[in-house]
Amino acid sequence: MLTWDDYNEDVPPTAPTGARMMAATDLGPSAPPPIERAQALPAIDTPLGTPAEPNGIAPSARPPTPALAAQGAAQGAAQGAAQTAELAPRVQPAVVARALEQEFPTSEPAPHPAPEVLPIAPDTPSGGERVTVDQKRMINCRADLNQLVPFKYDWAWQKYLDGCANHWMPQEVNMTADVALWKSEDGLTADERVVVKRSLGFFSTADSLVANNLVLAIYRLITNPECRQYLLRQAFEEAIHTHAYQYCIESLGMDEGEIFNMYHEVPVVAAKASWALKYTREISDPTFTTGTDDGDRAILKNLIAYYCVLEGIFFYCGFTQILSMGRRNKMTGTSEQFQYILRDESMHVNFGIDVINQIKLENPQLWDDSMQALATQMILEGTELETQYAQDTMPRGLLGMNANMMAEYLQFIANRRLAQIGLPEHFPNVKNPFPWMSEIMDLKKEKNFFETRVTEYQTGGALSWD
Ligand SMILES: [Fe+2]
Ligand SMILES: [Fe+2]
Repeated sequence: MLTWDDYNEDVPPTAPTGARMMAATDLGPSAPPPIERAQALPAIDTPLGTPAEPNGIAPSARPPTPALAAQGAAQGAAQGAAQTAELAPRVQPAVVARALEQEFPTSEPAPHPAPEVLPIAPDTPSGGERVTVDQKRMINCRADLNQLVPFKYDWAWQKYLDGCANHWMPQEVNMTADVALWKSEDGLTADERVVVKRSLGFFSTADSLVANNLVLAIYRLITNPECRQYLLRQAFEEAIHTHAYQYCIESLGMDEGEIFNMYHEVPVVAAKASWALKYTREISDPTFTTGTDDGDRAILKNLIAYYCVLEGIFFYCGFTQILSMGRRNKMTGTSEQFQYILRDESMHVNFGIDVINQIKLENPQLWDDSMQALATQMILEGTELETQYAQDTMPRGLLGMNANMMAEYLQFIANRRLAQIGLPEHFPNVKNPFPWMSEIMDLKKEKNFFETRVTEYQTGGALSWD
């Protein structure tokens, strides 16, 4: 039985998982190139995305409106004045966008070669043969996917069980104190209000991006029933998370249009969303398939982008800010919602890392020097984008933290992500400036969780036997 510490990001691993069993020597040395650095702080010129297209996954770039451009320039100037020299230099968004555009051109996607191996097993029994463990593979499996057992990846099934055991709903959390605090004129500082709105703005759409990537891109390409079982659980948890953010936004009486549109109107939020969407776009085409070298690398990149970077790095500044607020007895309901979400997200990250490492084990030819360098570059780009988000949301210190501390925390997390997929750490001598995050993530220590837990669900409420 896994303990919570197995899912706790800041606690050293105590039990081997697929990720931890992957010895560094299996992977060979790699010397990832440093990511390109900006010479000076740019004005916020991040290309802003348009509202998502009907499928919700592929906004295209559009120029910023004059008002937004002026706002962005003003924000950029204000940030530049407020930031200290110790902050890590930024990556110019244009540089990142250009590099990614070269890597993943979107205007004329290369035609997908005809698949030699079906990515999806037939949905009808064939040949009457029973599935054996040896036939099961994470991608490109040809065995019947409708048979859950025999299990090959017990860790995936255990995570499914653990995820179900952690079930919660947003309505269980009392938001009364938050509503009173938010509506009082002197309850929060202006900077604290910015943090709350930006967090809800980023997360309210980020979890939809994750859910869409799971359902519309990843699910059909992961050819393993026990992992698909967890993916279905994760997809529902992402729906609960989006529900939780909506519940907070509605409870606090926020401008829903303002909050839900931040992912293409606020540059530092848009930059993170755009970065991830490129990877969804690459594999969500219905004609895309694995079974080729390019196809197999594409899904590996997508898994790294979403599990290691989006869920593994992009969530951590906002989580830390809101949980720090809760520790100071402010916005305690919102903070409690974020605690439950963070517990779920920590498990999502660990599942994804196990999947990534399993694909590497089963397809060692994919994990060559170029793939290792690309994975490192992706994690470092994500760290830079999240550092920019921290600087933008914390031009001054607040809640016992500042942008410098957050930058170090993000480097600490980036080192962890690199090591988890068998890559060398990139940032030497960084420490975790927020050790309380480890404790606050461990909900088993929180009495409130059990005292306030709703245990009776209305599962039979709609049935009538008359
Ligand atoms: Fe989520
Ligand atoms: Fe997640």
